[in-house]
Amino acid sequence: MNNETTVDREVPRIALVTGGNQGLGLALVRRLCQHLPEGSTVYLGARNLERGRGAVAELATEGLRSRLIVIDVTDGTSVRDAAAAIRERHGGIDIVISNAAARISPDRDNAAQVRGFVDTNNRGAIRMIEAFGPLLRDGARFVLVASFFGTLTQLDPTLWDRFERPGITLADIERTMDEYVTAVEADKATSDGWPDWINIPSKVGQVAAARIMARALPSGRDILVNAACPGLVDTDASRPWFDNMAEALSPDDAAIDVVWLATLPTGTTEPHGELVQYRKVIPFRR
Ligand SMILES: NC(=O)c1ccc[n+]([C@@H]2O[C@H](COP(=O)([O-])OP(=O)(O)OC[C@H]3O[C@@H](n4cnc5c(N)ncnc54)[C@H](OP(=O)(O)O)[C@@H]3O)[C@@H](O)[C@H]2O)c1
Repeated sequence: MNNETTVDREVPRIALVTGGNQGLGLALVRRLCQHLPEGSTVYLGARNLERGRGAVAELATEGLRSRLIVIDVTDGTSVRDAAAAIRERHGGIDIVISNAAARISPDRDNAAQVRGFVDTNNRGAIRMIEAFGPLLRDGARFVLVASFFGTLTQLDPTLWDRFERPGITLADIERTMDEYVTAVEADKATSDGWPDWINIPSKVGQVAAARIMARALPSGRDILVNAACPGLVDTDASRPWFDNMAEALSPDDAAIDVVWLATLPTGTTEPHGELVQYRKVIPFRR
C-alpha cells in the first residue's frame, strides 16, 4: 500500500467529512488531522451531536484536534446551515468528503429500506453538492465516497441513459432515483431491469452526480471533483453482507487513498469527474 501523501505542507486547509463519527468517515477525519498542515481545520460532520462529540473526544485522546459540525444530510436545512456556518467562519472550503451513508440490511425487504437509503446516499450527496459546491475555493477537492459498484456496467444497458447522457442534470438523477424507489416499493424493479441489490443503482447514481458536478464547474477553476471507492472496508455497515472479511481493509488503511484523492496538489488536472479506487480510474462505461 502506498502510504505517501502529496499534501502541500505550506497551505492550511478547511476540510469537512460527513458521517465522520464512525467507520470510514472517522478514519478520514483522523487522517486529515494527521496530514493537513498546521493551522488547518478539519470538521467532523455528524448527524447526532452526542455521537459527534464522542468521536471528537476519541480523536483528542490520540492528540488530534477536529471540530464538530452537525450535519444530517437528509435535512436540507441542516446541510445549508452547515455550509453557511463554514462560509461565515472561513469564507470557503478546500476539502469536502461526502461520506455519510445509510445502512441496508440483508435481513430486511428492499421495499422497506430503499427510500431512506436513497434519501441519505443519493439525495443527501446532491444536497452536499448543491450547498458546498459554491463554497469550493481554487485548489479545492470534492470527493463523494461511492463504490466499485458505481459504474454503468453494473446495470442493464437500457438503464444507462438515465445516468449519463448529454445535458443530464442533478435533477435528472434525483428523478431517476425517485423512479427507482417507486419501482422497488411497487415490487416492479426487477421487471424494469434493475439489479436486486439496491446498493448498485444507488452507487451508480452517486458517481453520476459527481460526474455532473465536475462537468458543471466553470473552466479555469483549479477544482477537482471525483467519486471514490475505498475498497471493502471492515465496518459495521459492511460486515452483515460478507461472510469473509479477511480481505477487507481497516478503515484507517482505506482512508489513505481517499485522502490522497482529496488532497491532490494545486495544479493537478486529473482525475476529474471519475470514479477512483486505489489511485486508479475505474471507467464509468467500460
Ligand atoms: N464499508 C465498506 O466496505 C464500503 C465499501 C464501499 C463503499 N463504502 C462507502 O463508504 C462510506 C462509509 O461507509 P462505512 O462502512 O464507514 O459506513 P458506516 O460505518 O455505516 O458509517 C456511516 C456514517 O454515515 C453517517 N450517517 C448515516 N446517515 C446519515 C445522515 N442522514 N446524515 C449524516 N450522516 C449520516 C453515520 O452516522 P451514525 O453513526 O449517526 O449512524 C456514520 O457516521 C459510505 O458512503 C459507503 O457506501 C463502504
